[in-house]
Amino acid sequence: MLLLTGGAGFIGSNFVRDWFSTGGGPLVNLDKLTYAGNPRNLEGLPAGAQHAFIHGDIADRDLVSDLLEKHGISAIVNFAAESHVDRSIHGPEDFIQTNIVGTFRLLECARAYWSGLSGDRRSSFRFLQVSTDEVYGSLGPNDPAFTELNRYEPNSPYSASKAASDHLVRAYHHTYGLPVLTTNCSNNYGPYHFPEKLIPLCIHNALAGKPLPIYGDGQQVRDWLYVRDHCSAIRRVLEGGRPGEVYNIGGWNEKPNLDVVRTLCAILDDESPRTDGRSYSEQITFVKDRPGHDRRYAIDARKIEAELGWRPQETFETGLRKTVRWYLDNSEWVREVVSGEYRNWIATHYAS
Ligand code: NAD
Ligand code: TYD
Repeated sequence: MLLLTGGAGFIGSNFVRDWFSTGGGPLVNLDKLTYAGNPRNLEGLPAGAQHAFIHGDIADRDLVSDLLEKHGISAIVNFAAESHVDRSIHGPEDFIQTNIVGTFRLLECARAYWSGLSGDRRSSFRFLQVSTDEVYGSLGPNDPAFTELNRYEPNSPYSASKAASDHLVRAYHHTYGLPVLTTNCSNNYGPYHFPEKLIPLCIHNALAGKPLPIYGDGQQVRDWLYVRDHCSAIRRVLEGGRPGEVYNIGGWNEKPNLDVVRTLCAILDDESPRTDGRSYSEQITFVKDRPGHDRRYAIDARKIEAELGWRPQETFETGLRKTVRWYLDNSEWVREVVSGEYRNWIATHYAS
């Protein structure tokens, strides 16, 4: 039985969907349901014994220890995190609490539980830490893409908190022998993405006739990966990754933000044209840059391909079109997500 944390968020809920659609066994889904966690993301999925949803915090030792014992957990996949860089700039505290303290407590519970296992159950146990390429810092235009050997040089409170948790994961392997795996992935996009992040924000704003805010000059580069490709990579690492190893996951798909938003507008022009016949790209608006904004991320994903045979299936164009169609077909989901708390965030953050 798998214990998934943060499984009501963007990637976690896609992972649950992917897991069951590929014949995965029962799982326990532990999620605190912060503003980013949404039970509606899990609609239509198995429930009950197949998929036990637990509303709780990864930092709650008693709860986590109890879940591990009660369900005889064989692996933990840790998605739970505060994940938005801009929120980490406005208020880092929650990031320290969940990403660092929470991961530490989860590791402590995992270590105590795993120490009590024996035989195959002990040797096959895994703790998979879902991390980000942002821990490696920012690349110059001609630097090679990040490999697993790059130094950690996090620049935002978000990436620093993820880096700290990755270091703890590493240390629990080195010191206690806990069989851990770490994945560092590039920017994801796809269904159920909370509309505070660039792609879903721009889809939502475009359709609502609002500005599409581009930070600074829009030439910051990210390496985009369709979320279901990330999910299949995590499955591969869980099945075949070597304990103690790090695997970088990316889309081989570097794009400047402005190109991303222009491509998005072209797809929207095609799929849901503006009533006045003009292009959504006319809504693009340059706004003040993010403080400390990393210029470029790029992932060298050769290790996971060579060792585990994983490569992304979607191109940016196919993945983005699927994403746009999902948002057009799921306007009710967006309407519910764009709640009071969300509106406060947009009003405060974009006011400046
Ligand atoms: P998200 O913000 O959409 O979801 C996070 C989920 O974690 C939410 O459901 C939230 O309720 C839950 N959560 C938060 N604090 C918790 C706590 N203390 N206990 C239990 N649950 C808690 O994030 P996401 O985009 O799905 O990212 C998932 C993971 O993948 C994160 O660890 C993130 O750092 C990592 N990651 C994300 C990306 C990306 O592009 N989104 C890329 C690489 C890595
Ligand atoms: P985001 O989706 O927040 O992901 P991350 O910061 O983790 O890479 O942002 C993706 C890129 O888009 C990043 O360079 C910041 C930029 N961006 C904008 O230009 N405007 C926006 O309104 C947002 C949210 C992001």
